Amino acid sequence: MKVWAVANQKGGVGKTTTAVTLAGLLAAAGRSTLLVDLDPQGSLTAYFGFDPDGMDGSVYDLFDALARDSAIDVAALLHDTGTDDLALLPAATAMATLDRQLGTRAGMGLVVARALKGLAGRFDHVVMDCPPMLGVLMVNALAACDELLIPVQTEFLAIKGLERMLSTLQMIGRSRGGAPPHVIVPTFFDRRTRASTDALRLLRDRWDAHMWPRVIPVDTRFRDASRAGLPPPAFDAASRGCQAYASLLRWLQSRQAAPVRETPP
Ligand SMILES: Nc1ncnc2c1ncn2[C@@H]1O[C@H](COP(=O)(O)OP(=O)(O)OP(=O)(O)O)[C@@H](O)[C@H]1O
Ligand SMILES: [Mg+2]
Repeated sequence: MKVWAVANQKGGVGKTTTAVTLAGLLAAAGRSTLLVDLDPQGSLTAYFGFDPDGMDGSVYDLFDALARDSAIDVAALLHDTGTDDLALLPAATAMATLDRQLGTRAGMGLVVARALKGLAGRFDHVVMDCPPMLGVLMVNALAACDELLIPVQTEFLAIKGLERMLSTLQMIGRSRGGAPPHVIVPTFFDRRTRASTDALRLLRDRWDAHMWPRVIPVDTRFRDASRAGLPPPAFDAASRGCQAYASLLRWLQSRQAAPVRETPP
């Protein structure tokens, strides 16, 4: 089971869109996929027509079980998205109180990792959507993932957000024995604007080694897909945006398939 997290401390950079599109592509390819909504705003949960204000069974329950010292059946928290091979572990608005309620409790940082272990064998892939802030939920995502995707809007201000995210990653990496590998994904690219092309050049100058070499273009079909409540690949697989995410997915998978370099004797 491969576990990816999608995170950036900056809001509105395409995190939820990246998570739902990659998961939709994996599901469309017949890979059994779980989306996990770790954002108390519940954008992903609402995407599939659920109400994060009144969720029966959500990520919140995982933390609540820890607080009560009780066991929990993680599989019972899964919801059907209406798309084949795509399940959702939704968010609840109450998750916004977790840092205050349980922030320092032992084991708080590994709640999601443990829950996913309980689901191993059931899914080929897990894609987690994170809130745009550092807190216990993002810490859990970074502890649970094999790889982190960082969508960065191609505009100047977004670069500051990326710097913040990368220093968070380093800080958290110290406690988990190394930061998870990360890939920067340039989003909202509009080649007709100087802002986009300049920002992309700046990103490549500074972080080339950690960047997906292509871009996700601005595409209004993402908004149309979210209005329809369908993963973008189920809504319009031929759209430019979906095609770009398909290329990202192939790139991520081919890198994973690459042989591990042998250490010399
Ligand atoms: N490449 C794109 N082109 C055009 N619109 C996009 C693109 N990616 C995302 N959007 C739209 O922009 C809005 C914000 O995107 P999204 O919700 O994915 O960002 P986010 O980083 O998850 O935001 P938040 O920080 O609030 O969770 C959504 O309405 C989405 O449909
Ligand atoms: Mg989001």
